[in-house]
Parts: sequence; C-alpha cells; structure tokens
Amino acid sequence: MVAGSSHMAKVLVIDDEANLRKVLAALLRRDGYDVTIAEDGEMGLAEFQKNAADAVITDLVMPKLGGMEVLRAINSSDPEVPVIIITAHGTVDSAVEAIKLGAFDYVTKPFDQRELSNVLAKAIRTHESARRNARGERGRPSLVGESPQMQEVMRIIDKVADTPSTVLITGESGTGKELIATALHEGSSRHDKPFIRINCAAIPRDLIESELFGYERGAFTGAVTSKPGRFELADGGTLFLDEIGEIPVEMQVKLLRALQESEFERVGGIKTTRVDVRLIAATNRDLNQEIEAGRFRKDLYYRLAVVPINLPPLRERPSDIPTLVRHFLDKYNRRLNKRIEGMTDEALTLVQAYAWPGNIRELENLIERTLLFADGPLIGVADLPQSLRSPGGMTPVPGPGGPVAPAFPAPPGETGLKDIVRQRAAELEKDLITRALEETGGNVTRAAKLLQISRKSLQTKMKEFSLRDDGDE
Ligand SMILES: Nc1ncnc2c1ncn2[C@@H]1O[C@H](COP(=O)(O)OP(=O)(O)OP(=O)(O)O)[C@@H](O)[C@H]1O
Ligand SMILES: [Mg+2]
Repeated sequence: MVAGSSHMAKVLVIDDEANLRKVLAALLRRDGYDVTIAEDGEMGLAEFQKNAADAVITDLVMPKLGGMEVLRAINSSDPEVPVIIITAHGTVDSAVEAIKLGAFDYVTKPFDQRELSNVLAKAIRTHESARRNARGERGRPSLVGESPQMQEVMRIIDKVADTPSTVLITGESGTGKELIATALHEGSSRHDKPFIRINCAAIPRDLIESELFGYERGAFTGAVTSKPGRFELADGGTLFLDEIGEIPVEMQVKLLRALQESEFERVGGIKTTRVDVRLIAATNRDLNQEIEAGRFRKDLYYRLAVVPINLPPLRERPSDIPTLVRHFLDKYNRRLNKRIEGMTDEALTLVQAYAWPGNIRELENLIERTLLFADGPLIGVADLPQSLRSPGGMTPVPGPGGPVAPAFPAPPGETGLKDIVRQRAAELEKDLITRALEETGGNVTRAAKLLQISRKSLQTKMKEFSLRDDGDE
C-alpha cells in the first residue's frame, strides 16, 4: 500500500496576466490541487515565505520581480521545491537558462493543458520523493504490480538502475514506459542530478539535432545566441529519449556516434563536447520490424538495447489490476479529497475482463473519472462507463494470430479508427454529462459548472444527445 500525506498538494501560481491566472487556477483546482495565486514576483515570494508550497508555477517576464529572480529566491530558501516556468514562444532561451539555474521544467504559452498537468504531477512526485530522501526513506516511484511479468521488471530495475548501461523500454502506449525510466533514474546514484526527457515524436525533424546537441550562435537564421542541447542539460544525470522509433535515419547516425564516443559537437560548432549521461530510450513501435523496413538502424538498436525491458500490455497481466485499482483509488482519493473505499467484486470483474487498449493510463483515467462522480463507499457496476458494462466492450476481438486487439464495440459500418474514436468520444461525453446532471439533480447551471463549460454549450450538447432539460431557473 502506498503511504502518503493526506493533504492536497499546494501550488503557488505567479503571473501578472489576470486571465492566465484564472485559467491556470481553475485547471489546477480541477486537478485537485490547493491553489494560491499571486499577481507579481514580489507578492509571490511574500506568499511563499509565509505559507510555503509544494510547487511553484511562475511566469518569466513580470513587472517588479521577474521569474528568474523568483526562481533564485525560492532555490536559496528551499531548493527542493520545484519551480515550473511559463514562457512565451520567443523566450525559450531564457527558459533553458532557468533550467540550468535549477527550474524543474518549462512550458510554453499558449500551453497545452495536458502537458502542464503532467509536468506539475511529475514535479510534485519528485518533490515528495526528495522529501522522503531527505528523511532517509528513499524509495522508487510508486510502481505497483504483482504479476510475474511486473515482478520480473522490478527485479531488472533493481539490478540495472545503478549501472551506466543503456536501457531500451518497449511496450504499448500507456504501459508505464516513462514511469520505468523515472524509476531507473531514481534508483541510481544519479538521482539528484537532472532527469531530462525528450519526446522525439514531438520535435520537427529538422530541429531534433539542435534539440539534442544544442547549437552555436549563427548556426542558422534565428540562432542569435548559442544554446545547450538536452545532452548537455543531462550532464551527470539521465537522458530519456522517448519515442525513439520516430527519429529520422540521418539523425540515428549522429546519435549513434554520440553514444559510442560520449561526445558531440553543437550544430554550427567546432568544439567537441563531452558529457557523462546515462541513456534510456523507449518506444511503442516494434523496432525489429522498423529495422526490416529500413527505418531504423540495426547498429543503433544494439547500442540502445543493452538492457531491454518489455512491458506487456495490461490485458496480458490482469492479476495487476486489483493492486492498480487500489493504488489509483488511494491516489485520487487524496487528490480529490474523496473517501471511496474500494470496488465491488462485480465491478472489479468487469474491469478485469475489459481489454484496456489504452493500458494503465486508461485504467488510471477511469478511476479518476469514476471517483469524481461516485458517492457511495464502494464503486459499483453502475458507476462504470457504458463501454465496460456492455458486453461488446468485453469481448476481445481476436487479431490475426497475434495478441488480442483492443476491444471496441464496433458498430456495423463504422470500423474506421476515426469513426470509432469519434463515437467513443461522444459516448464518453454523454456519459459525463449524464452523471453531472444526476449529481446536481438535473440542475443545468450547476452541472455546467461541474463540467466547466458554459450553460449554453451544455444545453446544446444535451440537445445533441437528446438529454432532457428540465430547466432550473
Ligand atoms: N506499474 C505501475 N504502477 C503504477 N502506476 C503506473 C504503472 N504503470 C503505469 N502507471 C501509470 O500509468 C500512466 C501511464 O504511464 P506512462 O506515461 O509511463 O506510460 P507510457 O508507456 O510512457 O505511455 P505512452 O507510450 O503513451 O507515452 C502514468 O500515470 C503512470 O504513472
Ligand atoms: Mg510515454
């Protein structure tokens, strides 16, 4: 069982833009954080000195006291508190500077809500583990699983975490690749050095090289200053190359060389840079297939897969489900300030029978969503979404000799991915709206508030889904 503090994590948001402050606060409160806001650096610091926080999110450019000064002050008073920088697109350079100064990470404006949620969750996790370390209770990030497959994975982690060996983590989307990478870093003697992640799929192909290796001033139009790459930022720590299967072949050659020789040059530079970096890579692609198709270099593959870790899809390890459910119930009870004790046996049976195409992430989202609306002491069958309750959602569609394909209740004539996604999204939406209306006894205004959409758009949606509007004025 995960022992943890029962208080909601406290987040301090510092931004001079009133609108952004409002949006951020709403978003974070919805995520279950205890949010305090401050409208400039000075007020932010005063608040921090008075009440402390588990994480700070600050804008970079503000009147009076800028984000960089805020970062410095917080770092010197409590170096363990993670600071996340918000920056406009043009000022990414200073954000990188901030990271070198000890910021936890940065997000660019206009920010992606999911990205921000993820970064913050990670910051808080790191903060918690740092505090545990300080108290001498160093532990791996909460990685649960009782299945023989997960036990084997944990055994490998214990064995290789504190070695310099490169690890290649493979597995479907949502199986826990990033979590394993973090566990490897946390379990190594590099744990107090940076853990730098780069998502190779998210970076335009002509920018990958400069992201990885940095660039010198004048290397290309727009390179008005020089900038270190992720390899340099990760010096002494761990570099996590996520979605490695997506990097273009030309880059693979350069990466291989950097790995073999532990050195590289910045783009447009002549000086060779040496770094001490532990490398972890992950992909949800079948790299052997990519090699055969000529899209992935065999030599790079062997260099990366010194220690291969394969994470089996959740449907192949149903014995992990009860522990995972417990784990996520604890987590979201804490976050959302709820007291749901567990799940009925019938509900658990349905959860175990479902094929989980989105793996653990999908299970986690389900628990969070269900908890949001459940009010009994136990989650029952009726609290589960339609997709799990309908038999279509449970019947695995057998793939051609391969593993079981994701179970979609595919209606006749709608078998395309886009159609299915659209339909599932609509089902989910309808489901959430129905629950919100149930929760508020049909009060549209309050339901809209709960869903954080306008009353008007809720009414439009209700019409679309033929849900009754009883009117509540
Ligand atoms: N064994 C586990 N115990 C507890 N939580 C887990 C476990 N595996 C995964 N999770 C949680 O499930 C979510 C998805 O995991 P993660 O992001 O690591 O998956 P991923 O394989 O990197 O997915 P993707 O390929 O989509 O990037 C995270 O919130 C993670 O903390
Ligand atoms: Mg991932």
